[in-house]
Amino acid sequence: MNENKLIIEQFNKGALNFDSWSVTQNEKEMKSLSEFCELNKKDVLLDVACGTGAFSLFSSSRVNSVTGIDISEGMIEVASENKINKKIENVKFLCQNVEDIEMDNDLFSVVISKSAFHHMKNYKKVFAEMARCCQPGGRICIQDIMAYENDKVNDYFEYMEALIDKSHYKTYSKREFFNLFKDNNIKISGIFESESQLDFHDYVEHVVQSKSNKGKIALFLMQALKNPDIASCFIEREGRLLWKRKVCTIIGYKR
Ligand SMILES: C[S@@+](CC[C@H](N)C(=O)[O-])C[C@H]1O[C@@H](n2cnc3c(N)ncnc32)[C@H](O)[C@@H]1O
Repeated sequence: MNENKLIIEQFNKGALNFDSWSVTQNEKEMKSLSEFCELNKKDVLLDVACGTGAFSLFSSSRVNSVTGIDISEGMIEVASENKINKKIENVKFLCQNVEDIEMDNDLFSVVISKSAFHHMKNYKKVFAEMARCCQPGGRICIQDIMAYENDKVNDYFEYMEALIDKSHYKTYSKREFFNLFKDNNIKISGIFESESQLDFHDYVEHVVQSKSNKGKIALFLMQALKNPDIASCFIEREGRLLWKRKVCTIIGYKR
């Protein structure tokens, strides 16, 4: 549990702000993900590292029931309040470490994790737990940011991510995601790669920042933009600096 102390601290601290970040509530993206997973009224869904529950609550009207689990009590408290405010009854939220999910085997027809693997050092253990909780014939889906192919560019952005959010662990590569499915005997049935264009300053602010850390981020950005490979990962539009990040969504089924 100690290894996850930083994650718990960061997300407990940021829980009340998390829903005001535009990315969390992006309905278009949640709709695409729910369609990609072919969610239907028979589905019993497990949302792994559910945060404030945006995807769990969004999906609730499309499935039979949803369980959202997250290690941060703060995030789970906000998720539970959101559920009450939206008067949704077929969703429950539990505070648990997803490296060791306290659930029986084969309980869920769909198990997903969205935007969370980059925080997880023990990501292989987490995926094995997702597979264990999924019923045979059920679907397992991961959606997360994906490492840049150019190692130098990737190293730069890994440093930047960690500067913005201390609980960032590692952005995994497409190969590392594939291997999770392969090593757990999950047959990949769909892959979708997209590019998100994150408002850089909005992204920085999705984490509670000290003034000095904001200064460090600005300086690091300014220096790095002199490198054309790194500069090509940004675009400016209407006075906003947009950060291009590849997002990988992979789904497979348990044999
Ligand atoms: C960036 S948020 C994404 C939340 C949500 N899936 C979403 O898309 O809005 C990452 C979440 O992963 C959770 N998390 C990270 N490691 C975890 C672990 N080992 N067990 C449970 N939750 C974890 C954090 O607490 C945080 O709420």
